[in-house]
Order: sequence, then C-alpha cells, then structure tokens
Amino acid sequence: MPYDFNGKTAIVTGGSSGIGAAICRHLARDGATVIVADLDIEPAETLAAEIGGHAVKVDTAQPDQVQAMIAFAVEKGGALHHIVNNAGIGGTPGPVGEYPLEDWDRIIGVNLSGVFYGMRYAIPEIEAAGGGSIVNMASILGTVGFATAGAYVAAKHGVVGLTKVAAMEYAQRGIRVNSVGPGFIRTPLLDANLDEATLTGIAAMHPVGRLGTADEVATLTCYLLSEEASFITGSYHLVDGGYTAQ
Ligand SMILES: NC(=O)c1ccc[n+]([C@@H]2O[C@H](COP(=O)([O-])OP(=O)(O)OC[C@H]3O[C@@H](n4cnc5c(N)ncnc54)[C@H](O)[C@@H]3O)[C@@H](O)[C@H]2O)c1
Repeated sequence: MPYDFNGKTAIVTGGSSGIGAAICRHLARDGATVIVADLDIEPAETLAAEIGGHAVKVDTAQPDQVQAMIAFAVEKGGALHHIVNNAGIGGTPGPVGEYPLEDWDRIIGVNLSGVFYGMRYAIPEIEAAGGGSIVNMASILGTVGFATAGAYVAAKHGVVGLTKVAAMEYAQRGIRVNSVGPGFIRTPLLDANLDEATLTGIAAMHPVGRLGTADEVATLTCYLLSEEASFITGSYHLVDGGYTAQ
C-alpha cells in the first residue's frame, strides 16, 4: 500500500543493499526525498540516481560521520522528518567464551551505537521540522537468542530497549519511534554469512516455510513511518513468518 511522504525527507542508513534498498525504493515511490546513506558509496549513488534521491557515505559507528550525514540530509531536503536506522552487520559466529573482542566492539558499534548516534543527531532536526517518525531495524534476535551470535543478539535486544526509551521521551514532542524485527530475510547479509544448505534449514524454521523478502520488511517499515501509524510508538513489530510464535 502506498503512503504519503510528499514533502518529507527521509534518511535510510545501510540504504545501498537488501532491506535498506527496498525501504529507499518504497519511500521514493511514495514521494519522499530519500537520502541513501551507506558505508558502500557506489551502490548508494547508483540507487540514489535511480530513485531521484541523494547518496552519502557514512560509517554509522562513527558519531562525527553520523552528524555530517544528518547535516547533509537537512541541506539536500531542507528539513529532516524521518530516519530509518537500518545499517547492520552479521559478524563472525562463535560462542561467548571464545568471542573475538574486536568483533564484539564492531558489532555493538554498528548495530547498537550506530542506532543511538542516528537518533542522537536526527531527533533535534526532526523536532525542528515540526515532528516526524523513526524506525530502528532490530531483528527477531531482539527478542530471542541465537547460539553463536551473542554480539548481534545483544545489540538487537539493545535496539528494542533504546527504541522504547526514545519513544517515551519524545511521545509528546511530535516524534514516534518504533523498531522492526524481521525474521530471516534473503539479502546479501544472509548470503555472505550462510551457505545454501544452512539457508534451507533456516527457512524451515519459519512456520510459513520460507525466508522473507526485503519488500515485506519495507512495507511494514513505511507503514510505521507514515501518518497512518499515528498512535503507534515505542513498540517492536515482528515481520517473521511466525518464527517467534513457536
Ligand atoms: N537479512 C536478514 O535476515 C535480517 C534479519 C533481521 C534483521 N536484519 C537487519 O536488517 C538490517 C539490514 O540488513 P540486510 O539484510 O539488508 O543487510 P545487507 O548486508 O544486505 O545491507 C546492509 C547495508 O548496510 C551497510 N553497512 C554495513 N555497515 C555499515 C556501517 N557501519 N555504516 C553504514 N552502512 C553500513 C552495508 O554496506 C549494506 O549496504 C540490518 O540491521 C540487519 O541486522 C536483517
């Protein structure tokens, strides 16, 4: 279903690929000025050209770069109304007792601190624009565990909690904040970390019997960003083919 984002500016971090790219396409289709923000700038530029948006290079784990990304968005769009803090990485699998410290730091840096930095610098601009809404990309692993993915699971649980806090703080200041918890979605992130046999096994763990698509996550995300979701804030929305219902 199309929503109305005419006159709105939206940043999507990790917008070059997978779920983020689908969200960029949906937002542009529905009228938004889209800022495709990514560490990987070439596909960001290609997508921005395709959808009539703007591309910016950012490492969301670096607060100064996130601050510059926000300034870029305000300059290009005239104001900022939405941010989707979507950039995320998988990381090396391994048990907690052996987990590499540098992997822990990087995953927490991108997947949790990156979401904080995104809100930290976007919220004042969204408030200055008269309000708007935010979606933070969590995962089903924001509510259940997954052996060998301690850093990822910890970060995603953190995203769900941080989202609740920001929502409470800004509920009466015109900003809604929600998180989205996808099940396993067929994107380059999954393809880079898991082989085909593992993916088949993981698909079977979803009651619907398949992996999700990036478009299915984008549809929910854009609903939550839109005015149609005006009474929804502080909540965590699963799009998981029934994975967490079991
Ligand atoms: N694919 C899944 O099964 C799945 C499930 C649940 C949640 N998620 C979450 O959805 C989000 C998107 O995942 P995806 O599957 O589309 O992954 P993806 O790998 O296809 O895309 C992630 C994008 O983020 C960018 N990125 C990575 N680190 C970055 C950084 N530090 N700064 C800026 N950009 C950075 C990458 O360049 C890439 O373009 C992630 O937060 C991920 O944890 C994915």
